[in-house]
Amino acid sequence: MPKVTFIIDGKEKTVEFEHGTLPYSHHGLPESFLDVAMNLHVPLEHACGGSCACTTCHLIIRKGMENLSDMEDNEADRLDTAWDLTTTSRLGCQAVIKGDVVAEFPMYTRNYVQEGGAIQLGKSDRKEGEKKEAEVQP
Ligand code: FES
Repeated sequence: MPKVTFIIDGKEKTVEFEHGTLPYSHHGLPESFLDVAMNLHVPLEHACGGSCACTTCHLIIRKGMENLSDMEDNEADRLDTAWDLTTTSRLGCQAVIKGDVVAEFPMYTRNYVQEGGAIQLGKSDRKEGEKKEAEVQP
């Protein structure tokens, strides 16, 4: 059962899943970081819905690179445009998890999550009619 540790702003969040048991969320490749994150409630951004057309799902792999699928040309081409690119960078929607791995959100993504980013093309967590604190002040 692969153990996936996400490092978000220095804090670790570890989730586990059994191969072949997650319902496919149609976000990225099956059992990719994004698919696992969507199923297990990890706030990994995915502005293009996991179709390798942006870089918001960029992750920096800290451990377990050998437990990921090989990088295809389309992922490598897209990653070239990522902010804060490293030699262990992968796109969360394209890297398929095959074993234990540790991945860190790059600084841009960490800031984005902390600020409650809202350019997600998928369904928002915010309910209709719900207002932010700043909007309800008299
Ligand atoms: S979500 Fe856009 S490239 Fe991964």
